[in-house]
Amino acid sequence: MPISENARAVLEKRYLIRDEHGQPTETVDQLFHRVAGAIAAADARFDPKADVDATARTFYDMMTGLDFLPNSPTLMNAGRPLGQLSACFVLPVADSMEDIFDAIKNAALIHKSGGGTGFSFSRLRAKGSTVNSTGGVASGPISFMKVFNAATEAVKQGGTRRGANMGILRVDHPDIMEFIGCKNDTHEINNFNISVGLTEAFMRSVEQGGEYDLVDPATGTVTGTLNARRVFETVVASAWQTGEPGIIFLDRLNRDNPVPSMGEIESTNPCGEQPLLPYEACNLGSINLVTHLKKSGGRYVLDKKKLGDTIRKAVHFLDNVIEVNKYPLDEIDKMTRATRKIGLGVMGFADMLLYMGIPYNSEAGVAQAKEVMELVNAVGHQESEKLAGTRGAFPLFGESIYQNGRPLRNATVTTIAPTGTLSIIAGVSSGVEPVFAYAYIRNVMDNTHLIETNQILKDRLTEAGVYSEELMEQIVEQGSLQHVEGIPEEIRRVFVCAHDVSPIWHVKMQAAFQEYTDNAVSKTVNFPNSATREEVAEVYTLAYKLGCKGTTIYRDGSRDEQVLNIGKVA
Ligand code: CDP
Repeated sequence: MPISENARAVLEKRYLIRDEHGQPTETVDQLFHRVAGAIAAADARFDPKADVDATARTFYDMMTGLDFLPNSPTLMNAGRPLGQLSACFVLPVADSMEDIFDAIKNAALIHKSGGGTGFSFSRLRAKGSTVNSTGGVASGPISFMKVFNAATEAVKQGGTRRGANMGILRVDHPDIMEFIGCKNDTHEINNFNISVGLTEAFMRSVEQGGEYDLVDPATGTVTGTLNARRVFETVVASAWQTGEPGIIFLDRLNRDNPVPSMGEIESTNPCGEQPLLPYEACNLGSINLVTHLKKSGGRYVLDKKKLGDTIRKAVHFLDNVIEVNKYPLDEIDKMTRATRKIGLGVMGFADMLLYMGIPYNSEAGVAQAKEVMELVNAVGHQESEKLAGTRGAFPLFGESIYQNGRPLRNATVTTIAPTGTLSIIAGVSSGVEPVFAYAYIRNVMDNTHLIETNQILKDRLTEAGVYSEELMEQIVEQGSLQHVEGIPEEIRRVFVCAHDVSPIWHVKMQAAFQEYTDNAVSKTVNFPNSATREEVAEVYTLAYKLGCKGTTIYRDGSRDEQVLNIGKVA
């Protein structure tokens, strides 16, 4: 298998089956056989004569060739007793003590299995409103979020991975101002990403500079008004300061809700790319674009035939995952099988552009994004339609927005995930993000440092006859190669890192992928430390205008414990 030592280390640390002493009892190769076999087995449910072994071999080859990988819980749990295979869940939080603590319990079960949970807290009555049964006063959504957060913290230790949550509050909830600032102290509510649920009515008020109503969800009564522009500016200021909250456009999520008869979409999964109905789960998978390149006339181009094949196999794989998945709750089992959402996306997009010689921050880069994703979406839908022919459409198809068109096996087919771990396993740039840094320092044992260099860059510099350790040190120092002397102009133009890409291009790229994605796109818009609040506001407005479903921004250096650092020890 063409996997790096780094990837092997990740797999060994978290993904392999272990005995009671913590020793792995399977090899990396056995892991992929385990997953391929368990997922292929679903074929027999639809066709007793299906050649399950042949399908298992196909799935095994696709994964070990690093052409496609399913989300982490599938790699961890397929073919094992736990058998929970989805990364994304949304749980309802209704306005009663019982419902709130049920949600906490259910989230704990999901976290234990490696899944992440999203919640809308918009149904909880406002802080200070009356509690009928006791005559006391309600403590409000933010105080309950702290309980969810503490529960997540406690489960963290024993689980397969750190539990992640998304917390959403509608902009017209009376506690919205407290929510916007609830993570300004960066030590608070750390197991949550938070996003403000914006409505189109709100965005219009921002444009017009008007007031809008706050509504108590318990009674439906208007409890006050706020100035829309002031609220928008507070969100911007907070995001500028700490990177949070993000924003999501609720009306847009619901315009693409494939089965509105089942209720409204109120939340997404933790990283924002997967809008879901309450009790719905979704399994994701990502195609590695780098292994879908071929050389033609001395240049790298997309191998569309291979990509088409992988897309079809991946949709088949992900539809099988729904079948063999063991869901943590009956409600989730029922909802997930009724819509059969899957989320196929891509990773290694930035690396692909490097091979092709196209800058990420260019019209050509954006055009390439559209070309790739249009294909993934179109072929993905074709395959889902084909599966509907042999396995039946998703059960709620008849009441879906697709009811007058061709049947589909899956209510959604495409999603762009962050691929935090998958991209390490595949050894490529994550999701559709630009490369974060081309050279960085890694601490190795006995206090020595090692410079890690992006292999594609190293090869290009070597080809051009200019590679040297000193050059790499300068790239580490400066965090970018734009101003490093001795690097040919053509290489500089193409090898842009996240911070060389202006925020506007980040948004344009997100919008390009969103255009051909059923669900949403995981993307962070990076700002330099010197960025102003106005620039952040501009990006929010642009994201809204270009049709994005939400935005997350991050200004370099705005949090103490930053995951990735430029120039410093990583
Ligand atoms: O690469 P991998 O499959 O591990 O995950 P990802 O693409 O980085 O994240 C996809 C989704 O997995 C997130 O949006 C979360 O729903 C979930 N996740 C989680 O629950 N806990 C984590 N520590 C990481 C991801």
